[in-house]
Amino acid sequence: MKKIDNQLLVIFGASGDLTVRKLIPALFNLYKEGHLPENFAVLGTSRSNMTDEEFRAKVVTESKFLKDSISDEAIDFIESFANRMFYEDLGGSYEEPYIGLKNRVESINEEFSLDNNVIYYLSTPPGIYELISKNLKEQGLSDENKGWKRLIVEKPFGYTLETAKALNKGIQTYFNESQIYRIDHYLGKETVQNLLVTRFSNSIFEPLWNRNYINHIEITNAESVGVGSRGGYYDKSGALRDMFQNHLLQIVSLVAMEPPIDANAESIRNEKVKALQSIRHLNEETFYTNTTRGQYLASTINGEKVKGYREEEGVADNSMTETYAAIKFYIDNWRWKDVPFYVRTAKCMPTKVTEVVIHFKPSHHRLFEGTNSDNRLIIRIQPDEGILLKFGVKVPGQGFKVETANLDFHYTDLVDTYVMEAYERLLLDAMQGDATLYARADEVEAAWAFVDPILEEWKSNREKMHGYPAGTWGPKFADKLIDGQDGWRNPGPNLTDSADYCEL
Ligand code: BG6
Repeated sequence: MKKIDNQLLVIFGASGDLTVRKLIPALFNLYKEGHLPENFAVLGTSRSNMTDEEFRAKVVTESKFLKDSISDEAIDFIESFANRMFYEDLGGSYEEPYIGLKNRVESINEEFSLDNNVIYYLSTPPGIYELISKNLKEQGLSDENKGWKRLIVEKPFGYTLETAKALNKGIQTYFNESQIYRIDHYLGKETVQNLLVTRFSNSIFEPLWNRNYINHIEITNAESVGVGSRGGYYDKSGALRDMFQNHLLQIVSLVAMEPPIDANAESIRNEKVKALQSIRHLNEETFYTNTTRGQYLASTINGEKVKGYREEEGVADNSMTETYAAIKFYIDNWRWKDVPFYVRTAKCMPTKVTEVVIHFKPSHHRLFEGTNSDNRLIIRIQPDEGILLKFGVKVPGQGFKVETANLDFHYTDLVDTYVMEAYERLLLDAMQGDATLYARADEVEAAWAFVDPILEEWKSNREKMHGYPAGTWGPKFADKLIDGQDGWRNPGPNLTDSADYCEL
């Protein structure tokens, strides 16, 4: 394991949901597995008034998100973890000079011998990222003369290309790009990282990974739930901003990138950004043929009534925000010329699943009449994480009848391997100064550059909004997008389920 320095983690917005739900449970697991450095402490800060004890109770001892993990642990062990948590009230606003915060950082640093190494984790609305960065700088808290300083920021990173650029520029005024870690929790998923290993550590796939052998690529991200209590946020965002611009284009970049010169963060991110910059932008003609948007409608699933999107709390009655988006696009480079990519994401689908399907071209010369070997590689991001290769085998008996067989690998077969949660992995990487799984400024901007014109066009409402009953595979209209390619693969919860399996 890489060396991990003594350090302090300062969480802005620590009274919020993310801290108790994801960050502290991730830290607890890292603590339990012995990954945290000897000298380590957490300082939560926000505008709420809380003592250290109240913060410890909220995020550790009384947290429902830690209940299961701590139930088997000795009291001393839990206390030793909780006693590393501190809280500093920022007062009424994030704008006041961070003098109290600075004193607290210094005293905790002293008490725990943290060598002045600090990560600032911004779990606040993005609108104040720049302000926080500025205030940290003004108090000398971003200064790397003594110890390193890193800044982790959460999504959404920008609302448009212009706002993303402004945000990058704003933060970069106070922190160097090498200090900034933009989190995309999909990059923390083992199976997303495994895309690199599948492609670049096997000699059998990469020679085929190009326009000569691949017919098209399909990526599905489906969620069975609706927007729930997040209607207020979601209605201003929509599927394209919420999932496609970040998580799905990150997956696209890993599928499409050229081999990096080595496995360093910059080498890998250099290739990812080139792939994103090579995506052909849609134009007046292709907006309509290459995109479909939809919204879920009320329906009954398993005898239970499910609300339509426009009836959800926080959503406007006449909302034109998409909960379904499907986009067809091309990557204009040597490797991918003329290979269509089909990417879709949606809420209220029949099941929760994310997968990449590589559809290979049929064999060049058909020897066996009337048969079609269906060569596909399915990389399952979640659930039932694994890889499935579909290939033709002979049906026993006379003649040469071919049918498709499965060769499958499931992560669950790797017994004894502890698979880290995305936030565990990402936090640990940032603590070790490894930015490979974090998005760089130019990657984020390249992704926005592709998405922005689509959002603009959709805003004009010239493109229809299609309804689909909650619990179905989206608007019928989206089938047209993928016409001529045997349609979408509508997967089930298990990797080897045959397509169109439906969990209702
Ligand atoms: C988040 C989106 O980034 O990712 C949510 O804001 C979405 O709307 C979530 O539900 C999906 O993450 P996962 O890991 O459950 O696929």
